[in-house]
Amino acid sequence: MKLEILRYPDERLRRKGEPITEITEEIRVLAGDMVETMYAEEGIGLAAPQVDRLLRLVVTDFSGPSKREGAKVYINPELEFLGEEKQESEEGCLSVPDLRASVERASRVRVRALDLEGRPFTEEADGVRSICLQHECDHLEGRLFLDHLSRLKRNLYTVKRKKALLMTERP
Ligand code: NI
Repeated sequence: MKLEILRYPDERLRRKGEPITEITEEIRVLAGDMVETMYAEEGIGLAAPQVDRLLRLVVTDFSGPSKREGAKVYINPELEFLGEEKQESEEGCLSVPDLRASVERASRVRVRALDLEGRPFTEEADGVRSICLQHECDHLEGRLFLDHLSRLKRNLYTVKRKKALLMTERP
C-alpha cells in the first residue's frame, strides 16, 4: 500500500524516530509499504518519520527508481563517519517539494543496522550511497537537508513553499 508522505513545512517531520524493539509483522508490512511508496514517488530512500511513523526505519534502493532491484531495509541504523573527507552534491527530498540544493556531507560512512529478520549487518558506503544514508538517518532525528543550507537559502525556500501552498489552498 502506498503511504502518504508528509511535506515541509509539516512540523511532524521534526519528530524523532524511536528504536524498534521487536520486528513484528506490522514492521514488515510497514517496510514493504515504504519501499512501494519510495518507488511510486521515484525516490532512492525513505525514512519512517516521513510517512508519519516515529520509528528508526529506513529503506533505500540505490539501483534507482526505474530498476527497482536493490531494495534494502535498515532497522535502527547507526552511522559512523569514516575519515574527515567531505563531498558536496545536489540533494532533493520527497518531503521537500520543488527543491534541489547542494549539501556538504562526509564522503564515507559505515552503517550498522538490523535487517527484517533481526540480523545485524554492517555496510560501508561512499558516493551517492553515503549521501543517501546520511540524508535518511537525518530524518530519524527530525532533521531535513534544508537544515544544512544557509539561512538565506532556507528562508527563500520557505517563503516560496508557503506561497505555493496558499495558491493550492485557494478555493
Ligand atoms: Ni528526505
